[in-house]
Amino acid sequence: MTKEKKPQIDAGNSTVLQSMPNPALSPEQQQQIAAAVKQLQAGGTVAFPTETVYGLGADIAIPSAIRQIYETKGRPADHPLIVHFAHISQLTHWAKEIPESAWKLATHFWPGPLTLILKRSQHVPQYVTGGQSTVGLRIPDHPIALALLNALGAETALAAPSANRFGRISPTTAAHVQDELGKNVNMVLDGGACQVGLESTIVSFDDDAVSLLRPGGIPLSALETVLNDKITINNHYKTTIRAPGTLNSHYAPATPLEICPTQTICQRTRELEAQNLCAAVITWSVAKSNPMINKNIVQFAMPQEPIAYGIQLYATLRRFDQKGFDRLLVEAPPDNAAWLAITDRFQRASHNNTNNELK
Ligand code: TXA
Ligand code: MG
Repeated sequence: MTKEKKPQIDAGNSTVLQSMPNPALSPEQQQQIAAAVKQLQAGGTVAFPTETVYGLGADIAIPSAIRQIYETKGRPADHPLIVHFAHISQLTHWAKEIPESAWKLATHFWPGPLTLILKRSQHVPQYVTGGQSTVGLRIPDHPIALALLNALGAETALAAPSANRFGRISPTTAAHVQDELGKNVNMVLDGGACQVGLESTIVSFDDDAVSLLRPGGIPLSALETVLNDKITINNHYKTTIRAPGTLNSHYAPATPLEICPTQTICQRTRELEAQNLCAAVITWSVAKSNPMINKNIVQFAMPQEPIAYGIQLYATLRRFDQKGFDRLLVEAPPDNAAWLAITDRFQRASHNNTNNELK
């Protein structure tokens, strides 16, 4: 497949980087990146690692490749995709009327787990943004993702949702991507386990006022420190923005997931036991795992600190989801801002369960 060439843009350092081998990558990885670029330029999809979760990437300039993303994920066509690029000097190519607060966040946190929703420029096709006048933009912080974007060139960018089927748990290893998408993705670049483990934090702008649309890899407090201002948590986004990360039921394991406050989790475990149900009890306040409380109940101790907890969250849910339990019983995370992203993911993962006490 051929695609129309776009005019050259100011690519800053990325044109230089493009022609230099990345010393952080092995020769084999560099060969794989070259093969991935060929796939993408031919209109294929490539799953690639980022610091947050694996993305399912396609060249934004190739409509059929973007369609393939939607088909592979089973995602409705009006749900916008995040556009990934390599260097901050390209920001003005993809967005316009960029507020001062967006520049502050971009210069401080990129590359990193932050997505900015900005007015899209004419270079971003509408089929990538689900017809919206805004675009989600991000520079990922992963050597393979950056090498891929640099090798692809500054004239284009990669649209990439998380590389999972619609509504399911995001993948944090290449093996998870294979489990999710199998042969429906043309190529998977393996960059090991993701270092953050939760999707990017998403913010939008109304002039210089910043709203949080999705809590994620960067804590709210870190954003507020850089802005020296409060950020509004947008409670309306679930209904007003057509975006899957903002739907109530999302990031869900197949096994029913129930959230239970610390004070009642022992009692709830006994109730499940009495009903002869098999349950994995996922705790944070109990420091040690107990692989067999009785023949039906396993207790798994997650880290007590939110960043470490976030790194393990999806891999843990995925592992227990595959073991045939009747129930995943999750201890409610501490009620403070540092745990916002984790609480958010559990609320969505448990949405269909009537026993959920956090809702
Ligand atoms: O960490 C991440 O953000 C990962 C990696 C691969 O970069 N990507 C990711 O993409 O989580 P996805 O498609 O699973 O979630 C993208 C979210 C949507 O759910 C939506 O909330 C938001 O990005 N989004 C994208 N464009 C938007 C727009 N124009 N307006 C509002 N929200 C938008
Ligand atoms: Mg997703």
